[in-house]
Amino acid sequence: MFSSSSSYTSFFVILLAAFCLFPLARAQLNSTFYSLTCPNVSAIVNTVMQQALQADPRIGASLIRLHFHDCFVQGCDGSILLDNNSTRSIQSEKDAAPNTNSTRGFDVVDNIKTAVESSCPGVVSCADILALAAESAVSLAGGPSWNVLLGRRDSTSANQALANTSIPAPFENLNNLTTKFNAMGLNVTDLVALSGAHTFGRAQCRVFINRLYNFSGTGSPDPTLNATDLAALRQICPQGGSGSAVANLDPTTQDTFDANYFSNLQMNRGLLQSDQELISAPTAPIVGLFSSNQSAFFEKFVESMIKMGNIGPLIGLNNGEIRANCRRVNGS
Ligand code: HEM
Ligand SMILES: *[C@@H]1O[C@H](CO)[C@@H](O)[C@H](O)[C@H]1NC(C)=O
Ligand SMILES: *[C@@H]1O[C@H](CO)[C@@H](O)[C@H](O)[C@H]1NC(C)=O
Ligand SMILES: *[C@@H]1O[C@H](CO)[C@@H](O)[C@H](O)[C@H]1NC(C)=O
Ligand SMILES: *[C@@H]1O[C@H](CO)[C@@H](O)[C@H](O)[C@H]1NC(C)=O
Ligand SMILES: *[C@@H]1O[C@H](CO)[C@@H](O)[C@H](O)[C@H]1NC(C)=O
Ligand SMILES: *[C@@H]1O[C@H](CO)[C@@H](O)[C@H](O)[C@H]1NC(C)=O
Ligand SMILES: *[C@@H]1O[C@H](CO)[C@@H](O)[C@H](O)[C@H]1NC(C)=O
Ligand SMILES: *[C@@H]1O[C@H](CO)[C@@H](O)[C@H](O)[C@H]1NC(C)=O
Ligand SMILES: *[C@@H]1O[C@H](CO)[C@@H](O)[C@H](O)[C@H]1NC(C)=O
Ligand SMILES: *[C@@H]1O[C@H](CO)[C@@H](O)[C@H](O)[C@H]1NC(C)=O
Ligand SMILES: *[C@@H]1O[C@H](CO)[C@@H](O)[C@H](O)[C@H]1NC(C)=O
Repeated sequence: MFSSSSSYTSFFVILLAAFCLFPLARAQLNSTFYSLTCPNVSAIVNTVMQQALQADPRIGASLIRLHFHDCFVQGCDGSILLDNNSTRSIQSEKDAAPNTNSTRGFDVVDNIKTAVESSCPGVVSCADILALAAESAVSLAGGPSWNVLLGRRDSTSANQALANTSIPAPFENLNNLTTKFNAMGLNVTDLVALSGAHTFGRAQCRVFINRLYNFSGTGSPDPTLNATDLAALRQICPQGGSGSAVANLDPTTQDTFDANYFSNLQMNRGLLQSDQELISAPTAPIVGLFSSNQSAFFEKFVESMIKMGNIGPLIGLNNGEIRANCRRVNGS
């Protein structure tokens, strides 16, 4: 009786110990990672972002997109920032289909890195700089603020082939978008919340012109595109014109981070096919919730950004490195 109750007790003690120790054994990002080594890092990133925004009100949008495209390719490891290097067989992700002639802001990342290095040399990773810049961009545009989880290290490799296939394309349907997000551990609520980042920034004609004149070979425009917007977008993107002219992703408040993206969708005002797809049955209720309650959107957006920022980080001294120059692996 006594001995059976004591083995019963020790069973639970071991179980409890296992529950307590397991998370300690597993390295995780945390918001205080630089509190001793670079306590002012957020303020430094924020200052450079404010300067960059004065020169270019679009740049915040461009930077959060870099973080997204970084995280979807071998995790949030700064791989998108690496330039070509044939000696090290680095084929830059900058030339992958979703990025080429499209991703921007690499010079701002360099400026942030320089500012951070001058205060705390060799400490802060380029992958963490992207995560911090993304938060700063959202909060400076009127969106939510949050404590960014930190402690990512930088990759010594890039994967252009993976960038070609993992990052969703604007021509994809809801099923395929969901599949690509699920592959990153993100569910449909994350898909809808994170797509809300299209509340600011621009897109080039070449990524939506298929909707304007001859949608899927029908000889007509995409019937799910608002007729008023269609006329305006045809002005910006004439047939045979430059595919690189740009339109606002959010036609109502182009540089503000708000919930208008979702009310736009309900008026058929999504710019990309992948935006307008979100009012299809499976995700329509989430769009409805976010369009009617901005706080609900902001809350979920923060949760989903943290989830996205947790995709496959390199953690611990044995993984990756702290790059001295975000464009190059150390020693090259
Ligand atoms: C759901 C799947 C997504 C697709 C198919 C998609 C696709 C695109 C495309 C095609 C562009 C325009 C690029 C250009 O024309 O140069 C764009 C811009 C943008 N995307 Fe997404 N995106 C998606 C999700 C996201 C997510 C998750 C975020 C961030 C959390 C994001 C943030 C942005 C921002 C801010 C811009 C504007 C960038 C700028 O103005 O430089 N997107 N996206
Ligand atoms: C944050 O993570 C680092 C290791 O990645 C660890 O050294 C540090 O103790 C953690 N801080 C907290 C408060 O958990
Ligand atoms: C932190 O950085 C900001 C922005 O660069 C600067 O204004 C401030 O003086 C810094 N604070 C400390 C304690 O270094
Ligand atoms: C990388 O190299 C390829 C082919 O050698 C070239 O086309 C491309 O422009 C280079 N990319 C960058 C980012 O310099
Ligand atoms: C990218 O831009 C360059 C120069 O503007 C152009 O030659 C090239 O065809 C463009 N590539 C794509 C994929 O649009
Ligand atoms: C990625 O896609 C681009 C553009 O379609 C192509 O030029 C490049 O060869 C692809 N890279 C790899 C490694 O598959
Ligand atoms: C969806 O994904 C499947 C499988 O990868 C592909 O064959 C199909 O073309 C995709 N559809 C769209 C609309 O992108
Ligand atoms: C998606 O994941 C979040 C937590 O990350 C959870 O709160 C939410 O219920 C999930 N949504 C769906 C539709 O599974
Ligand atoms: C629309 O595209 C289809 C298929 O690509 C083509 O056969 C048709 O001629 C086009 N129609 C017009 C009006 O351009
Ligand atoms: C199209 O957009 C306008 C706002 O520009 C809106 O008033 C109208 O209701 C929208 N049309 C549809 C069919 O949603
Ligand atoms: C809006 O969402 C917030 C956050 O989830 C919630 O606390 C609030 O009750 C909601 N407001 C309404 C009117 O439903
Ligand atoms: C590429 O890497 C090699 C070997 O590490 C290095 O010597 C070279 O300077 C690098 N080239 C560039 C352009 O960064």
